[in-house]
Amino acid sequence: YSLKNYNTFGIAVDAKQFVEVTTTENLKEVLQQAYASEILLLGGGSNVLFTKNVDVTVVHLNLKGKTIVEETADSITIEVAAGENWHNFVRWCVENNYGGLENLSLIPGNVGTAPIQNIGAYGVEQQDCFVLCKLINKQTLEESVLKKEACNFGYRNSIFKQEAKNLYVITHVQYKLTKKAHRLHTTYGAIDKELLTQNISSPSILDISDVIIKIRQSKLPDPKKIGNSGSFFKNPIIEVSKFKTLQVTHPEIPHYIVDETKVKLPAGWLIEQAGFKGYRKGDAGVHPKQALVLVNYGAATGNEILALAKTIQASIAKKFSIALEPEVNIF
Ligand code: EPU
Repeated sequence: YSLKNYNTFGIAVDAKQFVEVTTTENLKEVLQQAYASEILLLGGGSNVLFTKNVDVTVVHLNLKGKTIVEETADSITIEVAAGENWHNFVRWCVENNYGGLENLSLIPGNVGTAPIQNIGAYGVEQQDCFVLCKLINKQTLEESVLKKEACNFGYRNSIFKQEAKNLYVITHVQYKLTKKAHRLHTTYGAIDKELLTQNISSPSILDISDVIIKIRQSKLPDPKKIGNSGSFFKNPIIEVSKFKTLQVTHPEIPHYIVDETKVKLPAGWLIEQAGFKGYRKGDAGVHPKQALVLVNYGAATGNEILALAKTIQASIAKKFSIALEPEVNIF
């Protein structure tokens, strides 16, 4: 069964078996039939690089639906099923004037995988609106609820990438959104500049969403046209002392202060400095407009993308003594 259309990198690997589940009952049946270790859960396939055929059963989680859990004059809490497309959910919120997630417009993938890597963009992370998620234990089939505090959200990180890795299926996520007095985040990157260009002085959440879609489309490749998985690496967080040393040789180095001891650097800048922006070998390449995005121009294999990633890591380690960590899950 070909997975080419089930991963945004467009890598042509085969799965031994493929099942699609549309209800939690369905999911439990599938989990019961196979050993949990013999299952690979796949949502939108937007954060995975396949480097070989998958010799276990691929379960495509396609649970759909949205329900209102609680609503007041000021806010609304919505429960969303894991298989809902993330961007469609965000646009539905924006169109209903529910605020909080508009900066996360156009992020590929599904709702159920958003908490795993705590997706984020333009100064907002999904944890900012997250209330809880509903889980099914892959081994025991027990259902449970995990509240925000227990999820240990961090930069592109959560309990689901650490202690709870591969243990649960996230079936539903609840987000609490604002109905009025929205708190807008417009200072990151080119948002304010774009609002100014468009002459928008008091933006609505719909304006923010539209502007972010425009910015993303201008530099990020559309996975439907060129295979990719968004940022391939995480932005590295380094010691201030090390940053100061780098600043001596590279005074223009862009950076974000994390706290008194740590600084975050844009990996895209490091990769561009190392000369890889627009680089291409066969069908594996580095996007010409955003060096942090590795792309499949058509027929690249997962191993060719991985080899390119390793070449980049080695080069950054040599040039800057910084270890780049993949953000994408490598299978
Ligand atoms: N830069 C370069 N050259 C490049 C790319 C970036 O010099 O080719 C420098 C520029 O100075 C630029 C800065 O890096 O101002 C930041 O670039 P950008 O705003 O594109 O963001 P990023 O740090 O590369 C992160 C997230 C993205 C998210 C954007 C916007 C990570 C790993 N990536 O990228 O998330 O959309 O910020 O908030 O944190 C993703 O996770 O898949 C993803 C796309």
